Amino acid sequence: MTPSACQPIVRAHSRPVSHLSIALLALLCLPSLAQPVAAATQQAARGKVVFETICVNCHSLDANRAGPALRNVVGRPAGKAPDYFYSEALESATHVWDRAKLKAWLTDPEKVVPGQEMKFHLDKERDRDDVVAYLASLSRRSASAVVSHPVSQPTQGK
Ligand code: HEC
Repeated sequence: MTPSACQPIVRAHSRPVSHLSIALLALLCLPSLAQPVAAATQQAARGKVVFETICVNCHSLDANRAGPALRNVVGRPAGKAPDYFYSEALESATHVWDRAKLKAWLTDPEKVVPGQEMKFHLDKERDRDDVVAYLASLSRRSASAVVSHPVSQPTQGK
């Protein structure tokens, strides 16, 4: 166990303080957290920063914006968020989003679904890994289900 002065700080602030500052703290504290579980949590925390600085320009977790709502996207069939108007290409896709598919999508969406309309990708592998870890951490229930359905988790995220 690596002693970490950072953990209590993160916990102490983990209520109404802005998500960004928690995530940034987690980022700063990362090197001192050696345990695998903590590492996974920290990866998701870094992914949250990526999500909240980049993806939120077009996405939110629970509402459709320029892009579809992304809570529970891991385990969800592609192109099927309720009430979102997809490109024809993505709407007729037949895969279910898992981590590998999401990483491929964030590397080059056009390769995964030709004709799609997300004009964006992430250059850094680490950013892709982290943001997928974050999305997976919000999608645990639907990720294990073959058939997914909207799960309301009002206490998670924002
Ligand atoms: C410039 C706007 C924009 C940005 C930035 C953006 N997206 Fe998207 N995203 C879209 C649009 C638009 C679609 C729908 C594409 C379509 O219908 O072909 C989409 C679709 C998706 C889908 C498919 C969801 C489904 O229901 O099938 C995923 C997953 C996704 N985005 C993840 C992300 C993540 C993660 C990020 C941040 C790293 C991100 N996007 C950044 C615009 C964006």
